[in-house]
Amino acid sequence: MTAAITLGTPTQAATTVPPHLRRIVLTGFMGAGKSTVGRLLAAQLGWTFLDLDAHIEQRTGRSVPEIFAEDGEARFRRLESAALANALQHDRLVFALGGGAPETLTNRLLLEQTPATLTVFLHAPFPVLFDRCMLQSLDRPNLRDAAAAAARFEARLPLYRRLSGLVVETEGHAPADTVRCLGEALNLKP
Ligand code: S3P
Repeated sequence: MTAAITLGTPTQAATTVPPHLRRIVLTGFMGAGKSTVGRLLAAQLGWTFLDLDAHIEQRTGRSVPEIFAEDGEARFRRLESAALANALQHDRLVFALGGGAPETLTNRLLLEQTPATLTVFLHAPFPVLFDRCMLQSLDRPNLRDAAAAAARFEARLPLYRRLSGLVVETEGHAPADTVRCLGEALNLKP
């Protein structure tokens, strides 16, 4: 896969963003609401939204579960790193990382070292995330074994936290509330 990213046209800007901020990256475990919140936030900012998993699926012509089954997780992680490196070259972009992206050191370094890039951790306790994924019937290879998924969640928590300039609690909040909360934390001017 070549990783070049073609971005769509951003919507009309509705909110003033501090000039030092050019990219917002949403991270968190599966079920955190990264894509839904990201889409809403991008619309509010008049920025482009990119879902990294959907981008990889589009480029490879295969679903993420197919890539896992046919080529293994390690191959998926390489595609993910390439897509991330490319996405970080674009401005006025909100993007949703796959939940496992922060496990890869290269990805953490890319996120930490790219200027004007804010990483936001969308947090909820594991049982809440697991239930959300089940309710939405999300097909996630790394969620098929609930005990292994819980262990992954625990292992990733410190990575999500270390990487993020902002942590937003999503338990009990609708995505629109989370976006509002984010806007307040970032001091975005309507
Ligand atoms: C994964 C999360 C998924 C996707 C893949 C692996 C993980 O993304 O990248 O199935 O290991 O947590 P979402 O977090 O968007 O569901």
